[in-house]
Amino acid sequence: MDKPTDMGMNRTGIATSPIDSKRLKQAAEELTPYRGGDGAALAAARIAWSAQAEPVGTMPPPASVKGVVKTGIQMLKGNKPTVFLDKLGERAAYERAGTRLWEAMLVKHAAADVHEGGPTREEIEHIRDEELRHYAIVRDAIVKLGADPTVMTPCADVSGVIGMGLVQVVTDPRTTLTQCLEAMLVAELTDNDAWGLLANLADGVGQDEMAAQFREALVNEKEHLRKVRGWLAAALRGQAGIDPTPSHDEMEHA
Ligand SMILES: [Fe+2]
Ligand SMILES: [Fe+2]
Repeated sequence: MDKPTDMGMNRTGIATSPIDSKRLKQAAEELTPYRGGDGAALAAARIAWSAQAEPVGTMPPPASVKGVVKTGIQMLKGNKPTVFLDKLGERAAYERAGTRLWEAMLVKHAAADVHEGGPTREEIEHIRDEELRHYAIVRDAIVKLGADPTVMTPCADVSGVIGMGLVQVVTDPRTTLTQCLEAMLVAELTDNDAWGLLANLADGVGQDEMAAQFREALVNEKEHLRKVRGWLAAALRGQAGIDPTPSHDEMEHA
């Protein structure tokens, strides 16, 4: 079976056929006169649409009266508790999706010819289990605030759209474990920033206990990121036929 870095029949580059590329350039010049457009009309149209567009979603009303009065969002400092709840909803969706992504990585790993310095099945299972635990942390936080953890909040929706490419890469039978590690690097970089941001927001709205839990999750995420970086660097080094041990810089750069 070919590897993606083997030479094959890739004809996407213009240098594949010098004669045809010359004709292509000629035709482009003859058939597509330059009209001096700079995209300003397009930008203006987009701005006009943006001014009228509805948001991608909104937050639901409080889940229960008991939720509002007894334990609910009144506990939150600041004048717009839905901002924090929206981000909690996003994290719940992301950690749930992260669990599934790592689950898909287990399948990818089983099918792969794993490089020296690559992940073991147990290491992938460990990260998957931590993502699931992270989901539970956020779910409990949402419930504690009297809100509904099954809600797809606007930020959850947007993060789902952002993550669509990751799901596509990781579940595509043609992609290699290394290519999928690139996708997981994006996921884990986001995880790291998102937990830090959420912990700071929790501080701000006066939820110290939550902030401490979120920072514990961040410790796990730092470890996930370090591991993914190491696996990726080792795989690429191995494939390139150089010393497979990643340098300290490759592991720690951020
Ligand atoms: Fe996570
Ligand atoms: Fe993670």
